[in-house]
Amino acid sequence: MLEQTVQIVSNERDTDSYFRLVVRTPRIAPLIQPGQFAHIRVLPLKDALLRRPFSIFQVSGDTFSILYKTVGQGTEVIARMQAGEELSVIAPLGHGFTVPKRGGETPLLVAGGYGMAAMYLLAQRSPQKGIVFVGGRRRVDILCEKEFQALGWDVRVTTEDGSHGKKGLVTQPLIAELKRSTKGRKLFACGPTGMLKAVGKIADDFKVPAELSMDEHMCCGVGVCLTCVIPVKTADGPRRAEAHEREGGWEYQRTCTEGPVFEAKEIVWEVTK
Ligand SMILES: Cc1cc2nc3c(=O)[nH]c(=O)nc-3n(C[C@H](O)[C@H](O)[C@H](O)COP(=O)(O)OP(=O)(O)OC[C@H]3O[C@@H](n4cnc5c(N)ncnc54)[C@H](O)[C@@H]3O)c2cc1C
Ligand code: FES
Repeated sequence: MLEQTVQIVSNERDTDSYFRLVVRTPRIAPLIQPGQFAHIRVLPLKDALLRRPFSIFQVSGDTFSILYKTVGQGTEVIARMQAGEELSVIAPLGHGFTVPKRGGETPLLVAGGYGMAAMYLLAQRSPQKGIVFVGGRRRVDILCEKEFQALGWDVRVTTEDGSHGKKGLVTQPLIAELKRSTKGRKLFACGPTGMLKAVGKIADDFKVPAELSMDEHMCCGVGVCLTCVIPVKTADGPRRAEAHEREGGWEYQRTCTEGPVFEAKEIVWEVTK
């Protein structure tokens, strides 16, 4: 993990309220693993002390990019920034996805909206290709479909309004696929909490392993403030020396350090916020 002030290489609109930001980070780029994130301080912003977390989308040479949606003050200011301007970045952060091995489990990726950003490096670095299930409310929420196809993945699109792909929720074609076969398959998901919860239940119902990237509100991003904790099962007792095991065999773990990626079977959904 490194903290650096970095220069923007480009910052362009993708679709609607989604943008791609590329920054030059020769020391950080080679360290990045799929599913890790960057904590970005928006230097022109008045409350610049508060950083914003974003999945690392793509890595190319000495640059990495994020794919972000403008939702509030920080992302709106980033969207107006231009090449040559500076941001402060702490990265790579967090515990990412387990990259499938050649000849190992077939990955089924499930992404909602900007959740696709967390999936790209995983798809690119996995020697074992599989299926990407991508869902969104409307056509504009379906991101990087062609880029995943170019990596050789089978991309299945759903939109809630039916404006692109099949009409419905991203979990519907996933369930249909698992009904066909569960053998040797593993799920990887990133998206809204409701979608992650549904994927966790599907993994449990079909008895397939799943890794979920949990998008929790974060403050420090480096394990100090405990803003980002979620309840995680601890069959073998607490993993961190300072963690208190709760009744029922679970403890709070930090999404920013122990996560953002957790095994679905570890998450105690009944206790989540
Ligand atoms: C590990 C991780 C990875 C992320 N990856 C991406 C990504 O690749 N692309 C992307 O666009 N966004 C991503 N996010 C969400 C992103 O951090 C927030 O959208 C961003 O911080 C909002 O900043 P803001 O100042 O524009 O909005 P604010 O003014 O802070 O908030 C505006 C609205 O967004 C909501 N919001 C803020 N933070 C989050 C959050 N973490 N999750 C859900 N809603 C939030 C607020 O509740 C509020 O309704 C990720 C978050 C986490 C924790
Ligand atoms: S955001 Fe501070 S501990 Fe995770």
